[in-house]
This record gives sequence, structure tokens and C-alpha cells, in this order.
Amino acid sequence: MTTTQHTPTPRDNFLRENNGRHQIHPMTHPLIIENRPPRIIVKGEGSYVTDIDGKTYVDGVGGLWNVNVGHNRPEVKAAITAQMEEISYYSSFAGTVTPPSIELSAKIMEMTADEDMARVLFSANGSDAVETALKLSRQYWKLEGEPERTGFISLKQGYHGIQFGGTSVNGSTLYRSAYGPLLPGCYQVDSPWTYRNPYSEDPEELAEAVITQIDRLIQHQGAHTIAAFIAEPVQGAGGIIVPPASFWPRLRQVLDKYGILLISDEVVTGFGRTGAMFGARGWGVKPDIMCFAKGITAGYIPLGATVINERVFAAWQKGIDPTGFIMHGYTATGHALGCAAANATLKIVEDEDLPGNAGRMGQRLMEGLKDIPNWSSLVGEVRGKGLMVGLDLVADKDTREPIDPGKGQGEMVATFARDEGVIVRPAGPVIIISPPLTLSEKETDKIVDALIKALRRYEEEK
Ligand SMILES: Cc1ncc(COP(=O)(O)O)c(C=O)c1O
Repeated sequence: MTTTQHTPTPRDNFLRENNGRHQIHPMTHPLIIENRPPRIIVKGEGSYVTDIDGKTYVDGVGGLWNVNVGHNRPEVKAAITAQMEEISYYSSFAGTVTPPSIELSAKIMEMTADEDMARVLFSANGSDAVETALKLSRQYWKLEGEPERTGFISLKQGYHGIQFGGTSVNGSTLYRSAYGPLLPGCYQVDSPWTYRNPYSEDPEELAEAVITQIDRLIQHQGAHTIAAFIAEPVQGAGGIIVPPASFWPRLRQVLDKYGILLISDEVVTGFGRTGAMFGARGWGVKPDIMCFAKGITAGYIPLGATVINERVFAAWQKGIDPTGFIMHGYTATGHALGCAAANATLKIVEDEDLPGNAGRMGQRLMEGLKDIPNWSSLVGEVRGKGLMVGLDLVADKDTREPIDPGKGQGEMVATFARDEGVIVRPAGPVIIISPPLTLSEKETDKIVDALIKALRRYEEEK
């Protein structure tokens, strides 16, 4: 933690008094926020953020695994303000468009050419991008003359945002139980999670066990009822679950056997986080549909994008028919400021080879953290790919039983890490590290050092 550049103002008092009193914050109980108001972050610069008390931290969360190019980048700010000087918003619904979305759609097509992508539909968030993917995959099957194909398969522990479609394919009961009834015809299979599964510790055997489960589920439900399979190339919010290397190629094979579409939810993994430009590309697999958000604009302005490949788009190329109208889209579709921010962000991602840096810094991070399970009573496993790293906290190292997040051990470690000048995110029983992809060696080492000190302090004070 270093000293401040934040100068206290009279506004600070208002902020402190009103913080947590009026706003509902996601993923917590409103009364918890009232009693423990959130930290007010007032500034960001590169990999660092400063809070209202003037304390500066390494941003080990990267905003919310989205500020991939780092905070306060002049290039992104300049692109947004230059666009604002022209026009901030105009509709993309039939008949009009603004220049940045034309540029961005061409750029995304160029970047996803290896995946044979053909068209993109913009939105405002990752949840929108998922919703769009689910709806377009149903429409695809209607256009193909197989209207019964409406079902979706996904992985347990998967996270696909919070709209009703995304919630229905979500693999964690926590996100679903308060909001049912959800979409019928959504099935979750075990995720290929080497650390916790009833099948095998051998990654390849495990991948086969899950593939067999998917194959049997498809046969049981009838392939003619399944529209698509949706998954994250590396599961993020569910606890940083990296599948065995053979899983995605085998998944593609089994889906091809039944003609089922593969949706790659790249909201976190897209644009470099796993060390490859796209998570699915890192596994050598071409999906039919890809969902982007977060890193596409590095969080400077919200933007989502859903990309469909040649195979899917071919259904629309048969001719103009009322059933082919895309009766889906958002006021924010093609937002001029979001697209301007994305154009500047993706230029940085390519010019600075952020996927390459994420791969290198991710390895350095894992190297620095890998010994922790040997001495920590709390950390069962350190796992990750690129700059998506998780520390799995366990109540019992032998049984690998996860901690009860309600007991606050994750928060305790995160607080100790903050005292050492680094913000990390406890999410359920996993501490997630997802810093900007511009992270330097020095900043990587600072995260390692802070976590080791925090976990040693935990051993002393638990
Ligand atoms: C894999 C994945 N999909 C979808 C979403 C939803 O994105 P948003 O929060 O922008 O709606 C998230 C958010 O973390 C995500 O991790």
C-alpha cells in the first residue's frame, strides 16, 4: 500500500455518510451492505487503484476481470471523448448506424477470422451477449426446420450472467434458486474439475467421463430437442476451473456428432486473459457462437458482443423471410461510445500483445503461489490459466471439503492482503486473482508477496 494522490473534499463526507444506504449491490444481502459499506474507489492508474482514504493498492481483481488494459489509459479516454465531440449516441435499429460500430464489427471479424465468424450483434453487457447467443441459436434451428431444438446444456459451476436465459443455464444453484421458474429444457452436467469430481484424478480419464455423460444426456433427451451447449473455456466465477486439455476438442466432437451448436462464453476469457486471444482458440477449438463483453472495452464503457459463424449465419442467407427477422437487440446496441472504447482497447490488446503478457505473468504468478498448499492449512489448491488464478480454500485438506464462505475466512485473507497493498476477491470458497493484463513483473511479485504474507498471518491469527 502506498500513499495517496487523492485530495479529500467536502464531497467525501457525503459519500461516506450515504455509502451503502440507498444502493442495492449485486451478489450480497442489502442488510450486509448497510452494516459493512463497500470500499469507495476514487482513482485508478495502470494496475493500481486508490480508495477514498488515500490508500493505493495493486488491483488484483482488474475491476471485475475486465480492466484488461489497466486504468486511466489516455488512448481509450481520447477515443471516447473524440467520439463524444461528434455524437454520443444514435440508434442502430434498422435505418441508422454510427461510425465506431462499423469499424468495430470489421475489427472483430478480422480478429475471429480463424474461427470462421461471419456476423456480430452488439449489446451492453456479458449477460446480454449470452441472452443474444441463446436466442439466436433457437432462431437458427427454427430457420433450419428443426423447431423442436430449444434445449440447452451447460456445465455445473458455469456462470453465464443474470438474465433469465443465462440464469437458466447457470451451473450454480445459488444464482438460480431465488428466481425460478426458469427456462424449461436446460440441463447441467458435471464440469471436468480435476480437484473435485467423483470420477478420476487423471485429467484425460476425467474428460472422457464428462464427455460420456454429455453423450448419454443428449441421447436420453433426444438430440432433436437440444439447440446448443454453452460453456466458458475456463470457468471463472464458479471457481477458476481449468478443464483438461482434451476436453474442449472432445466436446466439439460429441456436439458435431449430434449437430448441436457450441457457444463459447468468452465474457472473461475473450481478448487475452487466458494467454490466448480467445479461450476456445487456446484449446484449439472453433465454436459456432462466441459471447464477448468485459475485456472488449476494458470496462471503460459497458459493451457486449455476440458473434456467429458462417454455419449459423448460413441459415439467414437462404433469403428474406419473416421468420429470419432478428427481433432482438438493445437501445445500447452499437453504442457509439462503447464501440469507440472497444476500438481503442483492442488496438492496445494487439499492439502490446496482452495475451502474451497474460501468459507470461500468469506463469510467474502460479510459480510464486504454487508452494502455498504445502504449508497453508487453508489453501487446498492453486490453479489457473493466464491471469485467471484461484486459491481454493478448504475446511479439510484430505477430503477437500470447501470452507463455508459464511465463516468469513476468505474475507479475512482478502483483508490481510489489502493491508499488504493488494486487492483480491473472495468469491465463495475461492480467492480469485484477475489483474489487468498489462501487469508488470514487479506487480505480479507484489501480488504473490501480499498473498503469502496474508496467509501466514491467517495461520497466526485464525
Ligand atoms: C462467463 C461470464 N458470462 C457472462 C457474464 C455476465 O456479464 P455481465 O456481468 O457483464 O452481464 C459474466 C460476468 O462475470 C461471466 O463471467
